[in-house]
Amino acid sequence: MGSMNKPHAVCIPFPAQGHINPMLKLAKILHSKGFHITFVNTDFNHQRLLKSQGSATLTHLPSFKFETIPDGLPPPENLDATQDIPSLCKSTSETALEPFKKLLFKLNDTTTTTTPPVSCIISDGAMSFTLDAANELGIPEVLFWTTSACGFLAYVHYNTLRQKGYIPLKDSADLTNGYLDTLVDCIPSMKGTRLKDMPSFLRSTDPDEFMVNFIIRETTRAKQASAIILNTFEDLEYDVLKELSSIYPRVYSIGPLHTLANNMENKGTLELLGSSLWKEEAECLEWLDSKETNSVVYVNFGSIAVMTPEHLVEFSWGLANSNRTFLWVIRPDLVSGDSPVLPPEFLDATSGRGLLASWCPQEKVLNHPSVGGFLTHSGWNSTLESISSGVPMICWPFFAEQQTNCWYSCNRWGVGMEIDSAVDRKQVEKLVNILMDEEKGKGMKEMSRVWKEKAESMSSWSNIDNLIKEVLLRS
Ligand code: UDX
Repeated sequence: MGSMNKPHAVCIPFPAQGHINPMLKLAKILHSKGFHITFVNTDFNHQRLLKSQGSATLTHLPSFKFETIPDGLPPPENLDATQDIPSLCKSTSETALEPFKKLLFKLNDTTTTTTPPVSCIISDGAMSFTLDAANELGIPEVLFWTTSACGFLAYVHYNTLRQKGYIPLKDSADLTNGYLDTLVDCIPSMKGTRLKDMPSFLRSTDPDEFMVNFIIRETTRAKQASAIILNTFEDLEYDVLKELSSIYPRVYSIGPLHTLANNMENKGTLELLGSSLWKEEAECLEWLDSKETNSVVYVNFGSIAVMTPEHLVEFSWGLANSNRTFLWVIRPDLVSGDSPVLPPEFLDATSGRGLLASWCPQEKVLNHPSVGGFLTHSGWNSTLESISSGVPMICWPFFAEQQTNCWYSCNRWGVGMEIDSAVDRKQVEKLVNILMDEEKGKGMKEMSRVWKEKAESMSSWSNIDNLIKEVLLRS
């Protein structure tokens, strides 16, 4: 196919790490299937990628181009800063449509362009403003919800929860008086979940809470999309996917995208293209090489979670007292207030058996044979990467649909144990020892291996082929 005759997909992720990663994997897969790709970052994140990946990696890729639009926020103080998610939701939904339309116009301008006309848009589910641009051009748009299917379904039911009077909370005492333990009985495929297992944004007494309204708006507008895609697989979330398919006409499960992208043929020059916004410390892998199989606890709370200095101290003593070997990734802005400060006695107590880093190549770490367990914040990418590496988890969900991912990991998939949100060193020590050594931990490890095998099944590949045929190539 001549390069001007290729189908042209514009991929636009929500501007946060957990959204950019799976979108880039999908873009690579579509590229390998013959698509020309334009990948749209925000100006700020593109600067970060240039710094972490090097400009040579991002340019001169055949039929794979990067473009940028503003995120509508004042530039953060430094390039490693994690941006506030609600502020980004607000600013992108209010300001990004016009620059996005301008970009599409530029890409389609036959007097200047060297790329084929834009033929479809793949947009993050939290960026439904892009639907207006697709409508104007009369091309299909697929919304990519980068959450779990269970997390997405919980968001879809925010309106039901509001109509049934579960939310908003009556007053702030409901946060602590046991009200959040109320069983949610209005979502058929999520039987057994409590209010506290629903995505965290509903923990508010404000009837006009921005994130609640934003999510209701985005999940409602999603019905206008040509299709919804989710980074999950049928065996893992069958019931939930079925319920979603009764709400949205076309739902495709196409994950785990990192596994599919790693296994695909024709990787070519795109193999080296990464999406970490922070510089990865690859030395972690050499350190893991020197450790015994299944001996290391890997600790990482993702790209957004922020803990208090007290949480940090409890986690550190829990790890120290467990006497286990651990790799702990502490993002520069993981702790609220000043930079993270670990007790010097902790560093003495764990010297030789603990490695600290600020960002790591997580997929490779989780696939390393020395890693036996993962203490995680239950972000969806981390959960899926852990499941597909056969690594069981201790879950400390922070926000968004991490609470729902945690409940499923512990109660449905048999691969996780929840740790109390008010972290206590004794509980950390106990759960780490169960995870790494006791019968329960071994059972979870076994279940993780079962899911790893299922994650490699072919259903998501055929769903991607169907998505291309039934939606993306539709004229
Ligand atoms: C959050 C939510 O938890 C997630 O469920 C939601 O859909 C998006 O926003 P985040 O904190 O970024 O995500 O966590 P996660 O979804 O786990 O994504 C983090 C990504 O960064 C993973 O792909 C992980 O492999 C990568 N990562 C993290 C690294 O490569 N190195 C690190 O040191 C830490």
